[in-house]
This record gives sequence, C-alpha cells and structure tokens, in this order.
Amino acid sequence: MENITAALTYHDRTKHRPQRYAASLGYMDWATQPDPFRRYEGAPLIALAHTEITPPYHLLFGPEPLPAAPVCFESISQLLRYSLGLAAWKSAGGSTWALRCNASSGNLHPTECYLLTPPVSGIADKAVLSHYAPREHALEMLHTYEGEPLPQGTILIALSSLIWREMWKYGERCWPYCQLDAGHAAQSLKTAAAMLGWECELLSVETDEIGRLCGLDQLERFDEHERESPDLLLRIGQSAPFAFPDTPALPCRANRLSPSHHAWPAVEAIDTAARGIYPASAPILRPRRLPLPSRSAGEIILKRRSAQMMDGTGISEAVFRQILDASLYCRNAPDITFAIFVHNVAEIEKGLYIYVRNHEERETLRAAMDPEFDWNDCGEGLYLLRSLDYRSTAQRISCNQEIAKEGAFSFGMLCRFSPVLEEKGAIGYKNLYHQCGMIGQTLYLEATSLGLSATGIGCFLDDEFHALLGLRDQRYQSLYHFTIGRAIVDTRITTLPPY
Ligand SMILES: Cc1cc2nc3c(=O)[nH]c(=O)nc-3n(C[C@H](O)[C@H](O)[C@H](O)COP(=O)(O)O)c2cc1C
Repeated sequence: MENITAALTYHDRTKHRPQRYAASLGYMDWATQPDPFRRYEGAPLIALAHTEITPPYHLLFGPEPLPAAPVCFESISQLLRYSLGLAAWKSAGGSTWALRCNASSGNLHPTECYLLTPPVSGIADKAVLSHYAPREHALEMLHTYEGEPLPQGTILIALSSLIWREMWKYGERCWPYCQLDAGHAAQSLKTAAAMLGWECELLSVETDEIGRLCGLDQLERFDEHERESPDLLLRIGQSAPFAFPDTPALPCRANRLSPSHHAWPAVEAIDTAARGIYPASAPILRPRRLPLPSRSAGEIILKRRSAQMMDGTGISEAVFRQILDASLYCRNAPDITFAIFVHNVAEIEKGLYIYVRNHEERETLRAAMDPEFDWNDCGEGLYLLRSLDYRSTAQRISCNQEIAKEGAFSFGMLCRFSPVLEEKGAIGYKNLYHQCGMIGQTLYLEATSLGLSATGIGCFLDDEFHALLGLRDQRYQSLYHFTIGRAIVDTRITTLPPY
C-alpha cells in the first residue's frame, strides 16, 4: 500500500501545470552534461558484425513468424545493431551527436543493455554476461560462467536505467522518461528479434534479481549518482524454466559520466518504491488488419527519426487506420487507450476521438469521461467524441509544441491507472510507462514504413488533458503523447554514417 501511495504522490507532484512545470534546474548545466556512452574500464571488448540484409518490415507482423535464425555471432550482432545500435551521426553548428535505432527523450539514452548469452563461436566458448556498447557496436565481457546456466539457445537481455542522464536535464520528471525510453528499447529488441524469427518475451521476475544478475547491486563499481536501476528482463528462446546464475563480484568499474551532479530525492523515492515482481501481461491484443507491403526492416529502422517540425498536410483514412491498428502489434500492452485529436485525415471529421485498443475497456472509459461526449461509432474501435478543430488545444496541451498541431493527428496514451496500481503495486506504474514506450517505438516504425514521421511527446500538461476528457479521478491518466504526420527536414543538419 505504501509504495502505491509513493507512486500516486510522485505522479501528482511531477505533473506539468500551466503555471508550474515539474521541478527542474530550469537551465541546461552544460558543464555536467553526462557522457551518453557507458563503458566498463578494463572489460575485454568483442566487436560485433555489421549485417546488411534484413527481411521486409511487414513480414515481422504477419500471422506467421519468420523462420528462426540460429543463435550465432551474426544473429546476435544483427539483433543489437537494429535495436540499440547507432542509426546515424548528426552534425550542425560545430557539434556532433549520435542517434540510435531506439528513440529517447531528449536523445539522452538512459537505457543500458546487458546480455547473458550461451557459448557462441566468435563471442566466447562459455556462457557470458556482457554489456552492449552501442558506439563501438561491441560487447564488453563482464563475466564468464562455468557450466551452462541457461537452457540451450536461450538469451537473456536485461535493460536498466541510468537515471542521472535524464535527471541532468529534466529534474524531478525524469523518471517517467527513463521508463518510456526503456519501453522503446524493449520494443526495439522485440522488433529486431522478430527479424530473426525469434520470440522475445518479457519475463515476470523480481527487478532486484535482474540487478544482481547484471552486477548492478555491486554499488562500489559505480559513481554514487550514476548507478543503474534494473527495469525489465527479456528472454529469447524456449520458455523453459531456469534459475538465475550467481554473478560474483565483477572486476570492471563503470566509467564516470559527469564531473558533478544535482540530487532530486523524489526520483530516488519513486525508483525505490517501483521495484518488485515485474507484471508481464499476456499477449491478448490482436491486429485487425494485415500489414502493408514495405521496404526492408533494416532500412526502416535506420531511417526512423523524430520530426522536429511538421508541415500540417493530411493523410488518408486508410493510412490513419493502418497506424492505429499497428499499435496492436504490441499485444502485451492492453492497458492503453488513445485519446486522439484528428487534425487532417481525409474522410474523417476533425475532432476528438477515442481509439479503444482493448474493447473490454470501452464501458469503463465511457463512464469515467465527460457524459456529454457523442461516442459515435466509426468502426474498428474508433469513436468520435466531439467534432471540433482541436489544433491549438493540442499545441497548448503539448507544452506549446507546434508538432502536436501540425501532425495529421496527435494523441495521448490514456492508461488504466489507479486500478493497475491497486492490482500490481507501484511496479505496475513502471510497467504502464513501458507499455506506452513499446507502442511509441512501434508507431515510429509504422509511420516510417508508410513514408510519414512521428514524434513522442513527453512534455504535456497532464491535468489540462484530463479535464478536456472530463476525467475526474485517477482511474485513467495520460502517460505519453504522440504526433504523426509529415516532417519538415532541417537541411542545416548534416547526416553521417553510424559506423
Ligand atoms: C519518451 C520520449 C519523449 C519525448 N518527448 C519529446 C517532446 O516532448 N518534444 C520533442 O520534440 N521530442 C520529444 N521526443 C523525441 C526525442 O527528442 C528524440 O527521440 C531524440 O531526440 C532522438 O531522436 P530520434 O528519435 O530521431 O532518434 C521524445 C522521445 C521520447 C522517446
């Protein structure tokens, strides 16, 4: 009960309000900007391969999985290259920065990835624990296990948050951004696994166990402000039971990312409260449509970019519905409904809509929202609540960001909230953000495959949006916003190859 109260308190405290944004420094402290790349000093580095040939994107979401690739050096290389690897280097005005396959709030990339792989020729002749180094596209070897700790062909992938990276810029509201980013990273891994015909399952395990497996509990190896918090564990391979192997004291120390730090105790409090047994949901959702033929998955993943400006032009109804349906590829994200501002979709009236992804939610949603809404059934889970031009409202609610107005549509991911916390505890709060992030990464890729662009929006006025929907309590809360349309490309920025 105590940890639920901690989550509710943190959530309320870190909402952006028109007169008072969540607490942060209020300026960019460039002197303490964190290094975006974690490295372990002294850990042997194994360079991974750069594979170019990947299957068409739409085949990843068809009724049948692709034939499974063997677990080998090349397939593990491809998994990481197209999930958490670099997508490009960008350069403008004398600065250069890397973009990655997974989107990240502020491009700060708090998510770190650890792997437990079986003996694989080219990596190690024993099972190993490694850390993925995206700049080098390489594995840093942290520990070699004696014996065979996992069932044959199984790979475990752990994701953790290096919260300081987001805290540096966003202050108290950084924790949701870390969790959304972890969801983006998890979905990136699931997509890259599907390219190899691999099932990639989120496991219901104790988060502290994940930390122990990766040596994150060995606190002396990290600067005290730059520790990592375990988020989730993915498994590739058969769903046979296994016991976590013991990870002994690891010799390698983590690099230091910033010379000094700012503390935000509210973040530490929520991060401590939101630990426990991870509530992995069953895959209950099912897309209604078949994916449209597309280019190769690798090309789409590397081309995905967040739009910084959009041109306000429209899209067809078929494309709109295809994108909404693609959110159901995230079959394990049943707690999210979309509250959509349709700005410019041919054949669809401008207005406020609800897209019910999980039809079991419809009546409870309806009861929780403004009783004056129309609820006109537009088919496939889409309901028109009110016809109106919501462009300026969308911009205002998205902290005045024009992309929310200039997209063909923008929306908030409305989550079943207090009931999830009551059922699952504060770790359910964490999982809701992961669900939103997974949907976000999927929609980025779907938009790219359809020749469009998207942008995740973490900066929004929470309760303004809730008031607009007539929500009066905590049964539903919007945890992530998103916009999809046509990007205006900034030609002043130069693109360089990732490797
Ligand atoms: C959780 C999350 C929140 C974001 N919030 C915003 C936002 O409020 N405004 C914005 O312009 N971009 C936002 N972005 C986009 C990021 O800035 C973008 O992902 C990052 O700069 C990396 O660029 P890329 O997506 O092209 O790789 C967000 C992205 C994520 C994943």
